[in-house]
Amino acid sequence: MSNPKQFKKIVCAYSGGLDTSVMIPWMKERYGAEIITYTGDLGQGEDLDAVRKKALNTGASVAIVDDLRQRFVEEFLWPAVKAGAVYEGVYPLHTAFGRPLLAQRMVEVAREHGADALAHGCSGKGNDQIRFEVTFRALAPDLAIIAPLREWEFKTRELEMDYAVAHDLPLPITRENPYSIDQHLWGCAIECGELEDLWTEPPPEAWIMTKDPSNAPRGSVEMVIRFERGIPVAIDGREMGGVELIEYCNDLAGTFGVGRIDMVENRVVGLKSREIYEAPAATLLHMAHTELERICFDRATFNYKRKVSQDYANIVYDGTWFGPLRAALQAFIEHTQRPVTGEVHIRVSAGLARITGRRSPYSLYD
Ligand code: ARG
Repeated sequence: MSNPKQFKKIVCAYSGGLDTSVMIPWMKERYGAEIITYTGDLGQGEDLDAVRKKALNTGASVAIVDDLRQRFVEEFLWPAVKAGAVYEGVYPLHTAFGRPLLAQRMVEVAREHGADALAHGCSGKGNDQIRFEVTFRALAPDLAIIAPLREWEFKTRELEMDYAVAHDLPLPITRENPYSIDQHLWGCAIECGELEDLWTEPPPEAWIMTKDPSNAPRGSVEMVIRFERGIPVAIDGREMGGVELIEYCNDLAGTFGVGRIDMVENRVVGLKSREIYEAPAATLLHMAHTELERICFDRATFNYKRKVSQDYANIVYDGTWFGPLRAALQAFIEHTQRPVTGEVHIRVSAGLARITGRRSPYSLYD
């Protein structure tokens, strides 16, 4: 640990949680560097102005908060829908889609400010460290990468807390939420110790974006989603921008408890992990989009594209968004989407979304 290389300026991914807060003074001391924090708004529904102030109060010299929502939808989530990107058949990949955009923006910020290193607050066990670092390496091979959680001396949250108190860091006043949450427009991941037992049901209070289906409103709601060339553009005849459309679907499906996912997935690092996700809008939109493909694609294209979807999902999961294979598969997918125009009728009721109708000017049904 003695005499680490020193840096001038470090751009650090910042959420305002305990880890990334402790990282600021820790990196300043260890690397003698100025810290620029970067926070991207992907629709996590947090008070990001408060996050920005907190970063400055914690010792950042510059705290950047960007509204990335529209760019996120257009450059990542609509491609996700067109691709049918669902990992291991279940997980719509919300966290995985967020990382390359955040990492890309951090590189841009590093260039603007003449920084010489990039830092993230991911642990050594998950996929996110890989997604950040693969993107950093692809876009800025000359910048150093710092991952304090893999290096530092704090073995427990209590030790981090002690450090935070000793350094007068602004801490959350409320009792720590026991869940580790990553939430934005495309969904939510919930992690906590007790869920490591695969037989344990998630407690009712763990869920954030969806109501308990057993307490859902009675009856059902009808909706019609219109797609143009594979992209959802209107609901019930009302045209909407992407962010608004996704928020609308999250609200409606979430109210009926649609989009809860409890899965055991294979991580990049070779571990299996139990994951709890909520993805109300992603559930509806993937389902409706695939339904249109069923009537607009011939059999060979439909089945071939399912294989491509699986490979594409693995690429997104692995974090190689900026690699050549993703671009090549994207070109294939774009080509297939030309006839994916039309409408899908869905009925949403407690815990369930069912397709009740589909139509398209390009339907091959006779
Ligand atoms: N296992 C999921 C993934 O790799 C979710 C990760 C959630 N990340 C988080 N920081 N809570 O995409």
